[in-house]
Amino acid sequence: MSASDTVTPVLTIDGPGGAGKGTISGLLAERLGWHLLDSGALYRLTAYAAGKHDVVLDDEAGLAHVAANLDVAFPVADGAVQTLLEGEDVSRAIRTEQAGERASKVAALPAVRDALLKRQRDFEQSPGLVADGRDMGTVVFPGAGLKVFLTASAEERARRRHAQLQQAGVDANLSSLLKEIQARDARDTQRSVAPLKPADDAITLDTTRLSIPEVVEQLTEWLSLRGMASGA
Ligand code: DC
Repeated sequence: MSASDTVTPVLTIDGPGGAGKGTISGLLAERLGWHLLDSGALYRLTAYAAGKHDVVLDDEAGLAHVAANLDVAFPVADGAVQTLLEGEDVSRAIRTEQAGERASKVAALPAVRDALLKRQRDFEQSPGLVADGRDMGTVVFPGAGLKVFLTASAEERARRRHAQLQQAGVDANLSSLLKEIQARDARDTQRSVAPLKPADDAITLDTTRLSIPEVVEQLTEWLSLRGMASGA
């Protein structure tokens, strides 16, 4: 079956870093009882595994090999999803700014994106899938029943990231976070393969002035309107 004859309901949530995709995707998957694909984690894991195996970030063939052979598991422990790479808990290690920066470089390489495509499509399983990323609606699940593009101003995304870091007890500087976000946006939108952009049939939602529950409600309403969320 190709992704365009989707029978399993698929909701794709794409957008720039810090727009709230991770939080919203997790809440919706939980509410609907659907599977969750955090595709960014696969790029972060590829970059992390490359470091572990001494593969440099400009060795495209080497990185594609790492991506194709990722040994990962996402067990749930104490209600939280853990990320294991080759049995090692890397849940925190792959979430640092530096890991995101490395992931963004690895994600710009066509051979790496290709190597991760099938692994991502394998997440499409009953009773449904919420897929979070940059190219979920455009490349990975073009036949998805509902495609949402979440955005927020770069300033608001930097503020959210700053608050998150402060809450975690990490010192961070708002203006350097804003610069990092703008640099990451530029790399993700300007790359030649699968650049960050809304699918032609995606609905764009600007979350700059919306709370998390308001975004969840809006998406649930759109799912219901398309007959995709009977139990929501
Ligand atoms: O969503 P995130 O911050 O975990 O993503 C990490 C990097 O991976 C980000 O710079 C963009 C890239 N990415 C991608 O190119 N395609 C995806 N589907 C998901 C993430």
